[in-house]
Amino acid sequence: MRIAVLLSVLSFLALPGCKNTDKASQYTIGFSQCIGSDLWRRNMLDEMKMELSLHPGANFVYADADGSSKKQVEQVTAMLNEGIDLLVISPNEAQPLTGIVEQAYNKGIPVIVIDRKTASAQYTAYVGADNYQVGKLAGEYMHTILKGKGNVIEVMGLPGSSPAIERQRGFYDAIKHYKDIHITKQVYGDWLKENAERQLMQIQPELKDADALFAHNDVMALGSREVLNKLKLSKNIKVLGIDALPGTGGGLQMVSAGTLNASVVYPTGGKEAIMTAFRILNKESFSRETILQSLVIDSTNVELMKLQWGKISSQQKDIERQQALLAEQREIYNNQQLVLNIIVITLVLAIVFGGLAFYSLTENRKTNKSLEAKNNEILLQRNQLIDMSARAEAATEAKLNFFTNISHEFRTPLTLILSPVEDLMRNEKLNTAAGKNLALIHKNVFRLLRLVNQLIDYRKIEYDKQQISVSRNNLVEFARDILDSFQHNAKKRNISLSIATNEPVIMAWYDVNLLDKVFFNLISNALKFSNENGRIQLIFSRSEDMIHIAVQDNGIGMEANEAEHVFEQFYQADNGLAKGSGLGLALAKEIIALHLGTISVTSKKWQGTTFSITLPADNKHADTSVQKSGTNTSTVEERAKVYTADFEELPALSASDALNSPREHSILIIEDNTDLLNYLAEKLGNDYEIFIADNGTQGLNDAFQNVPDLIISDVVLPGISGKAIAETLKTDMRTSHIPIILLTAQVSVEQQIDGIKSMADAYMTKPFNYDHLLATVKNLIRNRVILKEHFTSDVSHGTMPVSKTLDKKFLNDFSGIVEQNLGNENFNVDDICKTLGISRVQLYRKVKALLGCSITDYILNRRLKKAKYLLINEGHSISEITYMVGFSSPNYFSTVFKAKYSCTPSEFKKQQPS
Ligand code: FRU
Repeated sequence: MRIAVLLSVLSFLALPGCKNTDKASQYTIGFSQCIGSDLWRRNMLDEMKMELSLHPGANFVYADADGSSKKQVEQVTAMLNEGIDLLVISPNEAQPLTGIVEQAYNKGIPVIVIDRKTASAQYTAYVGADNYQVGKLAGEYMHTILKGKGNVIEVMGLPGSSPAIERQRGFYDAIKHYKDIHITKQVYGDWLKENAERQLMQIQPELKDADALFAHNDVMALGSREVLNKLKLSKNIKVLGIDALPGTGGGLQMVSAGTLNASVVYPTGGKEAIMTAFRILNKESFSRETILQSLVIDSTNVELMKLQWGKISSQQKDIERQQALLAEQREIYNNQQLVLNIIVITLVLAIVFGGLAFYSLTENRKTNKSLEAKNNEILLQRNQLIDMSARAEAATEAKLNFFTNISHEFRTPLTLILSPVEDLMRNEKLNTAAGKNLALIHKNVFRLLRLVNQLIDYRKIEYDKQQISVSRNNLVEFARDILDSFQHNAKKRNISLSIATNEPVIMAWYDVNLLDKVFFNLISNALKFSNENGRIQLIFSRSEDMIHIAVQDNGIGMEANEAEHVFEQFYQADNGLAKGSGLGLALAKEIIALHLGTISVTSKKWQGTTFSITLPADNKHADTSVQKSGTNTSTVEERAKVYTADFEELPALSASDALNSPREHSILIIEDNTDLLNYLAEKLGNDYEIFIADNGTQGLNDAFQNVPDLIISDVVLPGISGKAIAETLKTDMRTSHIPIILLTAQVSVEQQIDGIKSMADAYMTKPFNYDHLLATVKNLIRNRVILKEHFTSDVSHGTMPVSKTLDKKFLNDFSGIVEQNLGNENFNVDDICKTLGISRVQLYRKVKALLGCSITDYILNRRLKKAKYLLINEGHSISEITYMVGFSSPNYFSTVFKAKYSCTPSEFKKQQPS
């Protein structure tokens, strides 16, 4: 936008410099000359140019036909085609040029005919002397100098050219009055000296008798004089010419020299023609016929004429000089105008750009100011953030310190629990209930100890920047000792633990009290995630200055996204198979980093995992650490205990603990922690029939298959989560009635709300109190009985949860089927199962749970109720009613009826008021 404005200003300013006020610059004038070589026509052209110089910029196109009419037509045609604004023409011959001149005229191009004419009046203007008058003037003069008597020979111009015709006519008209003057001969000299001479040489007899010669122009007159001289004829023979041109070779000189006796002035009209042309082009008034004056020049006035001509020509030269000067001045003016324009443009540009610069300067200042303000704001925010993060860090630090201290505090009571438990275990036989509980306590005390230790170690490394105390030891032997401490547990699951190395002794600098934790963690992890008959290998190798250790298993492996995070603090993989604290591997990484080594993992789901460690072979890292002899305060076995405790299997349930001993109500427990699963199964097994599942998928299948009276499920489970199980079961008609308790370690209020939203009936957080759990179980089972009434009542429940709506629908369908089949004595449970699309067990359990009775009891009751109704209201016989309500014989009907209502059907009927 700004640039467009700028350009328009500049073009406006530039205009005066380029503008030319003379319209002539727009015009092109074409001049067609019949023959351009002679002096007269050169004079004509000079006059034209002189006049044109007063109209600078006008375009002038000149063509010389060289005496050829044909050529002249062609040249004019070309001019018209190229485009001219006006045509000036001196036609060679009148007739041949008439057509093209008319054509131009009719096209609208103004035509000025000069000197000679065409045969037509179709032209815009004529400039030239009156040739008839010129001829007449010559005739009169002839009469004067011949004193009224004598023979005259006429040398004429080009036949067919208008001056030749008109001059001859004028001359004749003048002479014809004088009887003693005779035109004895007429020849055509075609305006040319040589032609005239040639023609005269052919009429020598007439020449001898001639008193005077009249030539239509001076050059032919000169030729005539020369022929007379050549033939040595009388010098008294008068020679008369036309044109009377000034200057060297011109008629005036010839008259002055006595070569010619006289010449009639015939002006070229070049100047007048151009003047007329511009008047026409500029749409000014002009005269159609500009007739130029002529007079006779002879010895009496020739000198005067020469003098005048001299003056004129010197004036002409002055004018020319002045014109040259003017042109020079104009050039200077133009240059100055250009310079001025450039200066003005530069000035305007400077002002515009200056303005722009000023504008952008102020804008920049504004932007800078606002940037500065923003910067200050950001700085302030940054400082606040630093401050806040420092405070948050301090708070976290305080929290972590608190946890670390608490963890420390845990160690003592845990140790105090451990020793008495171990004492007790030695006394208690493990297959007793107390023994089993002791084993459970023992195992979990170790687990707790391990967690507490790891937490403390991690904190030490992270915050105390624990210095390592390295010593030079055989790394292979060190690892083998640790590996061996797992052999016992590995064997039980038939997992092979081995070391692969080319060098049995690899000496390295490391902290024996720290590096062992790396091996313990990696090996116990490998064991945890290995299947039975698996293989775990520790592979040692050495490159130039590095030691490489790989802990490789062919266990369940991890997905790439899990492997990515394993070294993150508190990260727990959602592999669902076993859960760690999320500290072990983070700790291992820190320990390896303290040794200036690296640890990485590669894993493939269901194929295995390899942890790769590199350690420097030299003791570079010892610079910043304390070197000391490598001894560990406790034995490998002792330290191993906290890691191997996890693999200790608790005594299996003995035959007498059979879980599935039939009881009135059954419970399905879904829990992946085997210890907790066994514990709950054992405890609840006292009162309930128990089904167990250690993963979600199996749990869900068991629920459909066994339709238990209640389900207790963990939330985080391998396979399907506890919440998903609850959702599936509660939206399935077969299981919608089963109360579900979710057990979880997820303790936040949001998580609990989430659990309840999944349609679970209760949500209990770990650790839970067993009695509380048992009370909840009992309560939910008892509530089923209450629910029975709720379902069988006819009150409609608009806002019933999905599971209850499903139960209601089930009961409607179920009672509908029974009602329709009351008269069918072969109707049985299988018919209902088929119609509802569920199994016998599912139907049995569902009916029992919702109605509190067996299916057969229900059908029998419905039959008897209908029978009672029929006995009261309808006039059917007993045997008719027997078959209507599906009994096989009246006797059987009677027995059953009596058992229920303490009277036979007929007695009952009699009791009714008729
Ligand atoms: C020149 C000329 C003149 C003469 C005129 C007639 O070409 O021959 O001498 O007066 O032409 O058109």
